[in-house]
Amino acid sequence: MAYYRTPHDVTTLPAWHALQQHRDAMQDFSMREAFSANPQRFEQFSLSSCGLFLDYSKNLIDHHTRDLLVGLANEVGLQEAIKSLFAGEILNASEGRPALHTALRRPVGDKLSVNGVNIMPDVHKVLNQVTELVGRIHDGLWRGYSEKPITDVVNIGIGGSFLGPELVSEALLPYAQRGVRCHYLANIDGSEFHELSAKLRAETTLFIVSSKSFNTLETLKNAQAARAWYLAQGGSEAELYKHFIAVSSNKAAAVAFGIREENIFPMWDWVGGRYSLWSAIGLPIALAIGTANFKELLSGAHTMDQHFQNAPFEQNMPVLLALLGVWYGNFWGAQAHAILPYDHYLRNITKHLQQLDMESNGKSVRQDGTPVNHDTGPVIWGGVGCNGQHAYHQLLHQGTQLIPADFIVPVVSFNPVADHHQWLYANCLSQSQALMLGKTRAEAETELRDKGMAEAEVQRLAPHKVIPGNRPSNTLVVERISPRRLGALVAMYEHKVFVQSVVWGINAFDQWGVELGKELGKGVYQRLTGGIEEPAEDASTQGLINYFRGRHRG
Ligand code: F6P
Repeated sequence: MAYYRTPHDVTTLPAWHALQQHRDAMQDFSMREAFSANPQRFEQFSLSSCGLFLDYSKNLIDHHTRDLLVGLANEVGLQEAIKSLFAGEILNASEGRPALHTALRRPVGDKLSVNGVNIMPDVHKVLNQVTELVGRIHDGLWRGYSEKPITDVVNIGIGGSFLGPELVSEALLPYAQRGVRCHYLANIDGSEFHELSAKLRAETTLFIVSSKSFNTLETLKNAQAARAWYLAQGGSEAELYKHFIAVSSNKAAAVAFGIREENIFPMWDWVGGRYSLWSAIGLPIALAIGTANFKELLSGAHTMDQHFQNAPFEQNMPVLLALLGVWYGNFWGAQAHAILPYDHYLRNITKHLQQLDMESNGKSVRQDGTPVNHDTGPVIWGGVGCNGQHAYHQLLHQGTQLIPADFIVPVVSFNPVADHHQWLYANCLSQSQALMLGKTRAEAETELRDKGMAEAEVQRLAPHKVIPGNRPSNTLVVERISPRRLGALVAMYEHKVFVQSVVWGINAFDQWGVELGKELGKGVYQRLTGGIEEPAEDASTQGLINYFRGRHRG
């Protein structure tokens, strides 16, 4: 029987118990000492694949830890789970669906059947449609109502219909095609719409309404606002089809909105929103960087898919990163994980991985609905370095929490300015080094004495200067950001998240938790606008409704 139908209580497995015992034995493990004792530590705890280099030697692990973690992966049936994922088995049990984002990056000619139907021809048909549309726009053949070519594309979408495309199109800006600018409109906040629309001309703007469900409040409201704006700027209903296209699995709703059927790019229910940038949801990416580069992105992700399926777990990047996350989350009490890109173009990766990880693994019950008795997904946060060093890294270095971090950095900058890139790279490395080395009391005291400080002053200041160190991090180095390598990087994190869900026995592909807020939002809206007079379920919410009603004008 497939693993997801027999969810395990991972805490009862022998490997789990062995890891608990090992954790106790590792209480006094010192990374400093481990590096001094083993000159091969860097080589032994690093690997390279798909254009990415991973150094995971700055972790609270030794060879035995790795063996035990790999043992855990074996005991939960990870290999079988990986096969199930790629074969299109129903891994999303609560919604009765497979999770087949990996199919979107399979090459032409591959076969994959879902319910007896080979889905690959459809996947490539849509990719061809994307190619055709992008070609027409880039060649100036797709024209707006005044016969001028399109200069600006606005992706109206939120969550997975926004974060992935935004990450990739901005990360690959050096590959941008001339002539078309891409913008993103996500939130139901008039200010966002106002600021963006002020930069646009309706006659040369194409809106992509990007929504798998075509039922997302923010997206529908923004689409309506965009349509009203387009009409107010001089566009006509009759020519609306030249300015609005859609990506959705809900064709009927997109047609009802006024989008022509031939301008609706399909999606499938076997692609989750946060895994959808590889589908036609990636249209703004293809428009930004061209279809050839978009295909390179897919191909890079495919190489990571192969690595994930074939590499032994000890040399498998997503598996190792996932197991390290389990090690810290379940055995060291870590509640958070930082993603720290040292690259301007990659600055949005934290946001994308935040949705990917937290919406996937922010779960408390297993696939069969039984509650878990251990922690699951961590809080994913972070941001671009060096900026974070002057803001929140302080807590990473001296705070009371253990927060493992992933540093991501390219070797080559697209825009060398003097020696900035050497400094950027140096800072990235020195942060992980500082987290690992820390500063002992003796070192702090010596440093202060060397400055000629009086002994009383040394003793007063030394405790503040001590940095505990021994704080874990991974460093992912990319020689130079390219569509291929970025594809591999993002796919790697998708697989990392999947592996953790397998270990915990949870469903990484549903997101029921977001529904309650949406439901309650309707009642709150009705109370704000006078549609319902009966009070809200609780006094706090009602009080805040009253506050708004008493002050809101217009
Ligand atoms: O509300 C959460 C969510 O469903 C995400 O999972 C999804 O990525 C986002 O909303 C957008 O959904 P859609 O593409 O259907 O508009």
